[in-house]
Amino acid sequence: MNQGLTIDQDATAVSAKSSTENISNQYDALFSSVIGQDYYLLKQISPFAAEMSRLVGLTVAKFCTDKTAPISVVELGGGTGITSLSILTADEQLSLLSIDNEPIMQNQAKQSLQQWVDEGRLSFSDQDALSALQSLSSNSIDVIASAYTLHNFESHYRKQVLAEIFRVLKPNGQFINGDRYALNDMSAHTRSTQIEVAGYFKVLIELNRLDVLEHWIIHLFNDESENHIMREALALQQLADVGFKQINLSHRLEVNALVTAVKE
Ligand SMILES: C[S@@+](CC[C@H](N)C(=O)[O-])C[C@H]1O[C@@H](n2cnc3c(N)ncnc32)[C@H](O)[C@@H]1O
Repeated sequence: MNQGLTIDQDATAVSAKSSTENISNQYDALFSSVIGQDYYLLKQISPFAAEMSRLVGLTVAKFCTDKTAPISVVELGGGTGITSLSILTADEQLSLLSIDNEPIMQNQAKQSLQQWVDEGRLSFSDQDALSALQSLSSNSIDVIASAYTLHNFESHYRKQVLAEIFRVLKPNGQFINGDRYALNDMSAHTRSTQIEVAGYFKVLIELNRLDVLEHWIIHLFNDESENHIMREALALQQLADVGFKQINLSHRLEVNALVTAVKE
């Protein structure tokens, strides 16, 4: 009798554990499932995200203006291809390697950007950003660009990625990142985030997409957690620490900003 009870308790514990693990795995894979499938809704809940992708493209275009040789660009976290498109249309002489380890996101980019693959200007890597960078030669890439990817990284991982970005860039190469850079003023940052969350509710309740709302709120907890948050002052210091010069934060839009840095 006792034994039966013990076995039942164990079974309950095991099933509770595996369901917790399932939920945790689901939320660790930040861009799989609902967020990845319905990523286009981000444009409506966060218009700044589209603007940052545009600014990344403009900055790549500026980098290319006085260059004649073919220009190599690596994009970290290409996602569904919004930023990739902005980069590809920045200059005809550039070629792009788009890295993303989430197939639900990357497959959408593969579909919509096939034209550039056919032209030989776009290729994809399904590795994670750090592994992909580690496989590239030192001083080999002109520009490493990204939008809304680095803020998702756990802070130790991000530090390693920044060091790899510096190693892989050519001298005078540029790092260009449009992303969530948390405000140094924590109270202002919280207020801004609260307004952002209110916007998620307004748009997604009107669209009757409570499933997407749930996932973005859960995602935001990850972004805001102590081991992920990319606070402006520390982020810029980390770029300096790995060796970058001409570090510049511009176009701040609430919790979003464009950061550029040069490997002199
Ligand atoms: C918010 S999306 C941004 C996509 C696109 N740049 C944009 O602005 O729409 C972030 C992307 O980074 C990818 N990502 C997150 N962590 C990654 C990692 N460690 N390595 C490669 N890609 C990663 C996710 O799969 C996702 O597609």
